[in-house]
Amino acid sequence: MRLRNIPRANDVISAHAAVINAPEKQKGNWNEAFGNKHPIHIEIGMGKGQFLTKMAEAHPEINYVGIERYSSVLLRAVERYDALVAGAGEMRGKADATEDSSGTRVVEVSGAAKSLDNIRLICMDAACLADVFAKGEVEKIYLNFSDPWPKAKHAKRRLVSKEFLTVFSKVLASGGTVEFKTDNVGLFDFSLQQAKEAGWEVLAVTRDLHHDEVMSRGNVMTEYEEKFSMMGNPIHKGIFEIGTR
Ligand SMILES: C[S@@+](CC[C@H](N)C(=O)[O-])C[C@H]1O[C@@H](n2cnc3c(N)ncnc32)[C@H](O)[C@@H]1O
Repeated sequence: MRLRNIPRANDVISAHAAVINAPEKQKGNWNEAFGNKHPIHIEIGMGKGQFLTKMAEAHPEINYVGIERYSSVLLRAVERYDALVAGAGEMRGKADATEDSSGTRVVEVSGAAKSLDNIRLICMDAACLADVFAKGEVEKIYLNFSDPWPKAKHAKRRLVSKEFLTVFSKVLASGGTVEFKTDNVGLFDFSLQQAKEAGWEVLAVTRDLHHDEVMSRGNVMTEYEEKFSMMGNPIHKGIFEIGTR
């Protein structure tokens, strides 16, 4: 997902209370950023934030960190966050959001305000994750509809590559997991192969999440998941546990 460059994105993001601007300073001290010792789950490539905000609402006992590489995309997640906290309820896509003459996005506000104290957001490349979290600080990593990088020469950029699994193993706690969803069969097959080669344990797999009674329990849909399942694409999900070697 790459939105057009939005000049005000960096200013809005850096001034936002939920955004951590110097995340490397929190390394080893994320409990302080949240003011509690709840487990930390992160979503890498959070896009516009539907999954993260819904998970945070449903699980106030978990702290969520959303990571997104592009500021123009993170801006949309920040706007969603603000709308929910202000009482916007569910955002219903572009129809509810218009831009005024200054280019500022105006989101219709109605419904009950939410408390999203258990969310922090970071604009960064996940390749630098180990600069930001200490070993054992993260219990779960969500990868939702990660970019496929179809060319073989770009395989290392895939978030499910062995290279990224090595990065994740530097921050996950013992027994920590990666939960991966995609509609891309080739990328899913690649993830299974990479997890096995990296010595991770494949705990669970479904090739049709929305028709899997067990694995679909508590499933929260992402923006891409809604789009692709509406097109009839089955959603694949794998849960991988960090290896011991
Ligand atoms: C295809 S979109 C999916 C968005 C959302 N997860 C969903 O399911 O609707 C993938 C997102 O991952 C982000 N992304 C890709 N590689 C990343 C990386 N190395 N670090 C952080 N974000 C990344 C992209 O900028 C994009 O917003």
